[in-house]
Amino acid sequence: MEPFAKTRTESIADRISGRILDGTYPPGSKLPSVRRIALDEGCSTSTAVAAFESLVTRGLATSVERSGHFVRSRIGVAGSRFRASTSNLDVVRSRTHGLVRRILEMGQDPSITPFHGAVPHPSLLPLSSLGRHLSSSLAAGSSALGSYTPAGGSLRLRRELSKFLAGRGIDAPPESIVATNGCMEALALAVECGTDADAVVAIESPTFFGLVSLLEDLGRKIVEIPVDPSSGMRLDLLESAMETHAIQAIVVSPDVQNPTGARMDLESRGKLVRLARRHDATIVEDSVFSASLFDGDAPAPLASIWPEGTMHCSSASKVVAPGLRLGWLVPGRHLERVLRTKSGRSLGGPVALQDSFAGFLESSSWPRHLRRFRHAVRSQVRSMREAVVEHFPAGTRISDPQGGYFLWIQVPGLDCLELFERALQEGIGIIPGPVFSAHRGRFRDCFRLSCGTPATPEILGALERLGRLVGSLRS
Ligand SMILES: Cc1ncc(COP(=O)(O)O)c(C=O)c1O
Repeated sequence: MEPFAKTRTESIADRISGRILDGTYPPGSKLPSVRRIALDEGCSTSTAVAAFESLVTRGLATSVERSGHFVRSRIGVAGSRFRASTSNLDVVRSRTHGLVRRILEMGQDPSITPFHGAVPHPSLLPLSSLGRHLSSSLAAGSSALGSYTPAGGSLRLRRELSKFLAGRGIDAPPESIVATNGCMEALALAVECGTDADAVVAIESPTFFGLVSLLEDLGRKIVEIPVDPSSGMRLDLLESAMETHAIQAIVVSPDVQNPTGARMDLESRGKLVRLARRHDATIVEDSVFSASLFDGDAPAPLASIWPEGTMHCSSASKVVAPGLRLGWLVPGRHLERVLRTKSGRSLGGPVALQDSFAGFLESSSWPRHLRRFRHAVRSQVRSMREAVVEHFPAGTRISDPQGGYFLWIQVPGLDCLELFERALQEGIGIIPGPVFSAHRGRFRDCFRLSCGTPATPEILGALERLGRLVGSLRS
């Protein structure tokens, strides 16, 4: 994968933003002057001015003529200020929230403003380039449609994936990779083959609701480990949970966590691996949003730090095309078992689709697409975050994601199940917090807002209406 470097301006803006979000510069306070920042950072005053402009665009600061820059007073804060449950590390059996099915069906309804969606708008996807690769795979005729792949999938695809993974520091020869039906099948194979039938699995809280359904379906027990929206899974709490329960696997998204957008730093990754090793647990690394990191700068994947003990899962769904249903799993020491299970279920994969995606990865369209995609998504997230700061009531807390296209929003005192129903009556989709947990009632005052659609005036207008609705329901 081709990373694109963060500019000096953005790095400086990130540092100031970190100090705003951790409370060093509280809401309403005056920020250091342009000259002070230029001196401290050793940069020109024009770079410092540009960094402040970036903070204004991010919705974190305002500029007051002749007075300087101030932290916005109605700022959404991320990180530790989110009110998350940290005490309940009990084992639970998951139960699918009845709403999940309704939410999945809403995904198909074009009349609903898609703040509930988990896919990027089609205008952001490289569909015409993929179409050309698909036509040329089909033109290969009998070889694409007239044969089975091996259980692990098309060799051409696995060779390309091997190169792609090598770019992220993961040493995975083609024969160690299994092509799957999306990341969902990769996760299912990983949990099924990496744990016993009655195993306890640690997951992030909040987490992607498909994982909760999957664990229910497989009969695994769950321990939810709270996520800090700025730094990912709370490893101190994971450590306590591992001392109390025999946890066999830890499912974690260290690059871009769904729904919070948190990115785990390198030091924490090392700590997580040491913990898993010490307790002989398998790590299931969900990397489905990694390519969407805005700065392309993902620290070493867990599968590169601990290849034998990590099952690395990902797919093309979140940055290329969800409809391809093209995922992959690097199962480490569980490879043989995964291949047996995959073969028993489905023999192999769709050759034409797998080869066309391989063709896309081989081409120059892929790095070009990634650059364009990350820029577009970052600017959508920023504009929508700014609109939330503008239109939502004081006290609203908003995540500050490093990638992906979700905002995780907490409005203390708000019932987000009611918000979900009322917003739907106004033609607006959101995903209420409780579906992101196996514990009934958790995250009732939170919801996920998707920024996958370009921030057009209609989208920003819908956000303004949503903000008014939130204000009226809370008062
Ligand atoms: C965190 C996470 N993992 C896995 C998946 C499943 O991805 P796929 O569509 O490739 O099966 C999703 C889909 O939303 C997701 O959000």
